[in-house]
Amino acid sequence: TDEPLVLGLETSCDETGVGIVRGGTLLADAVASSVESHARFGGVVPEVASRAHLEAMVPTLRRACADAGVTLNDLDAIAVTSGPGLSGALMVGVAAAKALALALGKPLYGVNHLAAHVAVDIIEHGPLPEPAVAMLVSGGHSSLLYVPDVSYDVQPLGRTIDDAAGEAFDKVARLLGLGFPGGPLIDKAAREGDPASIRFPRGLSAAHDMREHRFDFSFSGLKTAVARWVEAREAAGEPVPVNDVSASFQEAVADVLTRKAVLACQENGVEHLLIGGGVAANSRLRVMAQERCDKAGITLRVPRPKLCTDNGAMVAALGARMVQTGKVPSDLTLPADSSMPV
Ligand code: KG4
Ligand code: ZN
Repeated sequence: TDEPLVLGLETSCDETGVGIVRGGTLLADAVASSVESHARFGGVVPEVASRAHLEAMVPTLRRACADAGVTLNDLDAIAVTSGPGLSGALMVGVAAAKALALALGKPLYGVNHLAAHVAVDIIEHGPLPEPAVAMLVSGGHSSLLYVPDVSYDVQPLGRTIDDAAGEAFDKVARLLGLGFPGGPLIDKAAREGDPASIRFPRGLSAAHDMREHRFDFSFSGLKTAVARWVEAREAAGEPVPVNDVSASFQEAVADVLTRKAVLACQENGVEHLLIGGGVAANSRLRVMAQERCDKAGITLRVPRPKLCTDNGAMVAALGARMVQTGKVPSDLTLPADSSMPV
């Protein structure tokens, strides 16, 4: 085959990801997470994450090569997340990628983390229908993107103006005493709860008078509303119905996310919606997105949960696409850009 064999490194947050693809085919997806080291702090500690990347990089690289049945010399290109993300964490991946590119004499591609979350769907569902709208919802980002070409042109439509969607799940889980990371725990608790029991606010809901923030999100008001509701219960000496609060909170998040995502497709004349990021694993979000897309005649693509969370395969997938579309490689001065825009 003449499809490029590409290695992808991801270290923008707390997962050390090393992925290998051949064109649009996934060969390896090795991920080492430092999430447990951060749990007692209730959130990712940058310094701890950087050190964990440094320790995990070589073993994870070895594991990916073994899983794919390739050696480093077989590679055609090296791709790495160069931003956005935690500065020190990004630097570990960028330094490793430069070392590999230099030692192997292979081209280096710095990729945008958000674009990589979109490109990962190529290895799940085949070539991306473009233009598409992508909604990325994770602990670090919540964005709506217009994607004419994932390797060249990804445009922001909107983003969160305060907390990210996953951050809201994590904070609400914390105040309900559920643990960290909170998303999966709320998802589980919500299955036993009534989503209609409490009407929590939908931040920046897509009303006609909200033109300015039409495709932006806000979750901090929702988080505060949940906190106030729980406090009032406790002050009254009544038990907090954790399952009902979880279900009602989750309903509010899923409602506003899916409403805006569908609206973004309609207003841009786009027939394909892609959802990625850790929160895309949320069971209620997936069901509601499917229902609303069906109703609007939009095709929904959501990669499997393992590919939705941070990983190296998504970086490799975007790198392979860049090779195929003839994108000019980066040189060895490639910086780690913590605040890189899409
Ligand atoms: O993409 P990801 O692994 O890392 C980044 O933040 O970049 O996303 C992690 C986030 C966490 O906030 C976690 O609570 C959330 O995704 N998450 C979920 C679910 N699984 C993970 N949120 C809601 N429902 C889930 N099932
Ligand atoms: Zn991410």
